[in-house]
Amino acid sequence: MFALTNDDLRLRIVGCGDGPASFNAEASRRGANVISCDPIYRWEASQIRERILSTYDEMLEQTRRNADEFVWSSIRSVEELGQVRMATMQTFLDDFASGKLAGRYLEAELPTLPFADASFDLGLCSHFLFLYTTQLGDVFHRSAILEMCRVATEVRIFPLLALGGQQSPYVHENLDHLRALGFDATVVKVPYEFQRGGDYMMQIRTARTAGEHRLGGVAPTGPVRSCRRACGSSRPLAAERRIQRPSRILGIGRADVQRRNE
Ligand SMILES: C[S@@+](CC[C@H](N)C(=O)[O-])C[C@H]1O[C@@H](n2cnc3c(N)ncnc32)[C@H](O)[C@@H]1O
Repeated sequence: MFALTNDDLRLRIVGCGDGPASFNAEASRRGANVISCDPIYRWEASQIRERILSTYDEMLEQTRRNADEFVWSSIRSVEELGQVRMATMQTFLDDFASGKLAGRYLEAELPTLPFADASFDLGLCSHFLFLYTTQLGDVFHRSAILEMCRVATEVRIFPLLALGGQQSPYVHENLDHLRALGFDATVVKVPYEFQRGGDYMMQIRTARTAGEHRLGGVAPTGPVRSCRRACGSSRPLAAERRIQRPSRILGIGRADVQRRNE
């Protein structure tokens, strides 16, 4: 999804909205330094498991109804998708208690993360921003992306599609906004497509990182230390105060159902 290289996996990584996915467990096993943030991490593994199981049948049914929105090549059927998702969740659940103790799973939610500026080299977000375009709105997207850019020197967001399979209108809006702030923000094709047309990510980098391991796009225009400093105002912070907590808008269980409907 993020075109991660072995070099990327040596970076300090934060995942936002990681949910019951296995990335943290698998990457940590390979020695990577990953912290995952999600509001569902306030719960015990058994509670997370119960919630996911309670929506499993509905998820498969919705996927069956929308089957033509997906590319059935590596995963060949809805049933296989269900098995893959359950195996992924099990890998997450087996790792969750020890990972939480180790500080690898943190109850935290966008648009406010509990980290100092530039605490991470890479911030990742899959199937949350842009996907919930209608539910989260433009102010939330702008604030959340800037917050990720504050804590990480490079940010990757995948995919760029909203629920229903159309590209989110916030993609271009945020590209323009980020470039105006001096970020190197581009759209990059990745070698993974499950949602049809969903093989693109947004890559956002500060000038400091842009020359180092660029995947594509235009050259950065100037130094950016953190987005709040770059903005030169408290606008994102003020916007954040007006935003409802998205876990209330989405409902955590519902977010998980929709993820599994892709
Ligand atoms: C559809 S799931 C995606 C999970 C994982 N990233 C993946 O690609 O499989 C969306 C996740 O976003 C989480 N979420 C909801 N509100 C959030 C917020 N404000 N900040 C971060 N994550 C949030 C949900 O709890 C859920 O785990």
